Amino acid sequence: MQTETATTDRPDHLKETVSRAVELLAAGETVALPTETVYGLAADAMNPEAVAKIFAAKERPSFDPLIVHLPHRSRLPEIASIPPETEATVLQLMEHFWPGPLTLILPKNPDVPDVVTAGLPTVAVRQSANPIFQRIITSLKRPLAAPSANRFGRISPTSAAAVLSELDGRIPLIVDGGACHAGLESTIVKVLPGSPKPILRVLRAGPITKDDLKPFGRVEFANQVPGPDQAASPEAPGMLASHYAPRTPLRLLEPEEVFSPVEGRRYGLLSYRGDPDDGAAGLPCWEHMVVLSPGKGKLPEAAVRFFHALRQLDESGVDEIIAEPVPDRGLGVAIMERLRRAARPATTP
Ligand code: TXA
Ligand code: MG
Repeated sequence: MQTETATTDRPDHLKETVSRAVELLAAGETVALPTETVYGLAADAMNPEAVAKIFAAKERPSFDPLIVHLPHRSRLPEIASIPPETEATVLQLMEHFWPGPLTLILPKNPDVPDVVTAGLPTVAVRQSANPIFQRIITSLKRPLAAPSANRFGRISPTSAAAVLSELDGRIPLIVDGGACHAGLESTIVKVLPGSPKPILRVLRAGPITKDDLKPFGRVEFANQVPGPDQAASPEAPGMLASHYAPRTPLRLLEPEEVFSPVEGRRYGLLSYRGDPDDGAAGLPCWEHMVVLSPGKGKLPEAAVRFFHALRQLDESGVDEIIAEPVPDRGLGVAIMERLRRAARPATTP
């Protein structure tokens, strides 16, 4: 299959690209679309054959459920119900964060095909804030299932070029909407009843941080990174230990750890601020160095550049990627979670 990349940089291009995407999606095809978090590989959520094409293109195992994106909040009842005991909180979260990078886990409507939810009684739902995504989904008028547009377990794409390098020849169309604003996948939350406050269980850390969620309940993080080759808790079936993984082995330095290179090995550094005072960036051993947020170090900037930087280092041909930790607070929690999952020991040379 030929994969076409369609632009949106001029009003006439945008119009043409939107109708092409809508036409393909309505015909049960998959299309890669920009969202505010990462690029998604979309298909009609209510069409099981179309959804099966997502799993095939990504080589995604069937036990890993997808996120359903709504054209509008008012369409929620077609996909999910809100349990009465958490209704007030769920509605507040939607009111506050939608459209935006918050995914909620809710009891599934029986009409949603089982292939979407991997047979679970719950479904993940969100409404994307990306204007191009919104234009396409509101004109299609159907909910879209869309996981990140990478092959399973690999680095999430934050540009059309990254999608092409993941899925070239496997999907008919990529809508190029430029770089993604947040750069990390949505925060996934399950609301549980609790006293005196409801519990907001974070199944995947993301752009909506603990501080953002705190006003709405007691925030708990569910996903401790499981050990190598170990599946995650059934709570978040897709959260395997090895995820977001570059092909190149990656080692995450501990805070304050001094790195000692092995003679003859080629190293790439993923640096937070590029500051020699942080320890690693001043060493002479780097074949390549990519800095996430030069200068003071700003977490939103680091988040936006994170997956692109990882991809650049992976493609640079080094033997091993060494990653500096970022501050484990705010958005840094989401970056650190991805770094821990990306880490894979190098086989000794
Ligand atoms: O920002 C995002 O969320 C992007 C964009 C494209 O919307 N999508 C995304 O999808 O990151 P994906 O498939 O790469 O990650 C979805 C995660 C998986 O880890 C999956 O296991 C989890 O959501 N998930 C889906 N349905 C679930 C459910 N019913 N219960 C628990 N976890 C669920
Ligand atoms: Mg993904």
